[in-house]
Amino acid sequence: MEYIRLGKTDMKVSRIGLGAWQFSGDAWGAIDYQTAKEVVAKAYEVGINFFDTAAVYGRGRSEEFLGRALKELGLRGHVYIATKIPGEWLRRVDILVAVENQRRRLGVDAIDLMQIHWPACWHNTPICETMKTLEELVDRGAIRYIGVSNFPLQLLEHARKCLSKIDIATSQNRYNLVEREADKELLPYLRREGIALIAWSPLAKGVLTGKYTPDNLPTFEDVRRNDPLFTRDNLARVLPLLDELKRLSAKYGKTPAQIALNWLTRDPLILPIPGAKRPEQVIENAGSVGWKLTDDDWKTLDRLGWEISQKIIYVTY
Ligand SMILES: NC(=O)c1ccc[n+]([C@@H]2O[C@H](COP(=O)([O-])OP(=O)(O)OC[C@H]3O[C@@H](n4cnc5c(N)ncnc54)[C@H](OP(=O)(O)O)[C@@H]3O)[C@@H](O)[C@H]2O)c1
Repeated sequence: MEYIRLGKTDMKVSRIGLGAWQFSGDAWGAIDYQTAKEVVAKAYEVGINFFDTAAVYGRGRSEEFLGRALKELGLRGHVYIATKIPGEWLRRVDILVAVENQRRRLGVDAIDLMQIHWPACWHNTPICETMKTLEELVDRGAIRYIGVSNFPLQLLEHARKCLSKIDIATSQNRYNLVEREADKELLPYLRREGIALIAWSPLAKGVLTGKYTPDNLPTFEDVRRNDPLFTRDNLARVLPLLDELKRLSAKYGKTPAQIALNWLTRDPLILPIPGAKRPEQVIENAGSVGWKLTDDDWKTLDRLGWEISQKIIYVTY
């Protein structure tokens, strides 16, 4: 495993992290505690030391599973935990309660990275109220760093201005070969400012592994049932990219998932956090690190992914 410094933090994190939304029980189908523990154990064994979860994942269940697994495996204090507060709880009074609950579920005194899961779209909470509360919690030692997620660039800039003692360290956004909105203005800004991009859905929820195609439509009853990326038309649009991923797989002796993740890790500021439902997926995803696509192959893949991303239609009715 390789390690990088995460954005504006002192955290030396593994080149890929592990997404723990899969432990939520509702969104991704039933994953029992034992399986979640095996996934966490395998992740640590292959060198992964950065775990991403959120309060809303299974209404605390993902945080609970992660905290319990780390305790039972003796890993508390040996890994970094990033979690999130939902956009509905961004008033000061709510944040104070939420963070106490999260520390309890995770079994830690200080949460390494607290991210705002999405902007306050329902309650109109002023952004500076939220940011100043998080800064206060850094002062008190309840959280170590602050991150945002799914913020448009203008709101991120505004949020930074609310802080006086600490800067926003990371921005977590949807980013993978075929979902490339961040390329337009966010990513260039983050690069200029030294803020890390934590890439969610780095495998496009499994599409980039090549196992879901128009002829093999997913049948699952999970979060992907309503994801527009999984319509027959969009999966058809992705096919040329899957062919390229297969070509590169053969050339490098890697799997399509490993190629897709390696494309992301070329930039030292990007941290992919693939979710995994089984230990074997963790092992495979960790195999995306420690080697490099050639410049030409990276550029071909990059261009093809971008072209396809512009053809994806998210409107479903
Ligand atoms: N900030 C946010 O708003 C936000 C939003 C979404 C996610 N996230 C975070 O980002 C993490 C990752 O995103 P994601 O879960 O949406 O998508 P993802 O990582 O792109 O896809 C994960 C899914 O792909 C499949 N998979 C993973 N590795 C595989 C492999 N090696 N071979 C074959 N299939 C594999 C698994 O599902 P199957 O086996 O069922 O195909 C797995 O559940 C989440 O766990 C969460 O922590 C954050």
